Amino acid sequence: MSDAKKVILTCAQPTGVLTMGNYLGAVKNWATMQDDYECFFGVVDQHAITVKYSPAELRKNTLSCVAQYLACGLDPERSAVFVQSHVTGHTELAWLLSCMTPIGELQRMTQFKEKAAKLGFNIAEGEDANALKFAHEGARAGASVNAGLLMYPVLMAADILLYNADAVPVGNDQRQHLELCRDLAQRFNNQYSETFTVPEPYIAPAGARIMSLQDPTRKMSKSDDNQGATLFILDTPDQLRKKIMSAVTDSGSEIRATEDKPGVSNLLQIHSALSGDSVADLEAHFTGKGYGDLKKEVAEVVIAALEPVRTRYEALIADKAHLESVLRDGADAAQKRAYKMLAKVYRKAGFVERPR
Ligand code: TRP
Repeated sequence: MSDAKKVILTCAQPTGVLTMGNYLGAVKNWATMQDDYECFFGVVDQHAITVKYSPAELRKNTLSCVAQYLACGLDPERSAVFVQSHVTGHTELAWLLSCMTPIGELQRMTQFKEKAAKLGFNIAEGEDANALKFAHEGARAGASVNAGLLMYPVLMAADILLYNADAVPVGNDQRQHLELCRDLAQRFNNQYSETFTVPEPYIAPAGARIMSLQDPTRKMSKSDDNQGATLFILDTPDQLRKKIMSAVTDSGSEIRATEDKPGVSNLLQIHSALSGDSVADLEAHFTGKGYGDLKKEVAEVVIAALEPVRTRYEALIADKAHLESVLRDGADAAQKRAYKMLAKVYRKAGFVERPR
């Protein structure tokens, strides 16, 4: 890893099997970024416990997630792949940052409000908002909003600032959190002295937005009730083929990526993102052919792309010793870097250095 390279950090919560949307919209790009940047990839198990969860599932999902990322091409020889809870610096820096973050700023976070609302709480808004008061009307009996949920964006800021990341690939739903992270970096730098790099959002080269196969006006989602709507990266060829062959298409018979053909457009997008052929070339290629031909070919392209991923995943998840060694190396690399940063921050914040 050369010092001249810019640092990119990204993290994801360990939530089950990745979808085609996650793969094409994010993980595939992360694999490519490794050519040009020094990369840190964290699986953020500590963020995952801010909502109700099962410890057994979390443990299983964390390892599975690491294996999936490696199977998709994250390369531990070139990048640090680590689990958040293995690097103690994250929560340590989060504590320090939390002492520089007004509670009101956290209560105004869109995602916090949404998650609190799911638990039955409203956060007061407007002129006379008393940010410290939850509106308890509507709260389910015994429900509460835990402090970790409020702190979530601070922990996320710590994830990023701990490595002096130059850029962070984030989806739209995380933009506001990255903004808070930038504010915190600037706040710290102003209050003490230049310390943190203020991270930029990393805009991936136009990633495909993959839609549900059953309702192509909605985003493809992990948690869709309709079994056929979502392609998972670990689906078998049979499962993939079945889902694609029964994808909803549009009226008419022409194969064109137009607004009135969201189903066909989606299939063309998936094909294009995986095969590298432009949508225009694909339209030409499919001239005179029918929806059945399109689906058959998309199925082949998807299977060809995902079959090696699934095979690699099976091998990785079966070899616990190897996975552990990857995580040990990842944690060591991350920790080393994190601790340099933390030592600097602690010094500036006035903590007495730990006698050696
Ligand atoms: N909050 C992010 C999400 O749910 C995950 C995350 C945690 C993250 N820490 C991060 C993303 C640091 C980028 C950088 O998607």
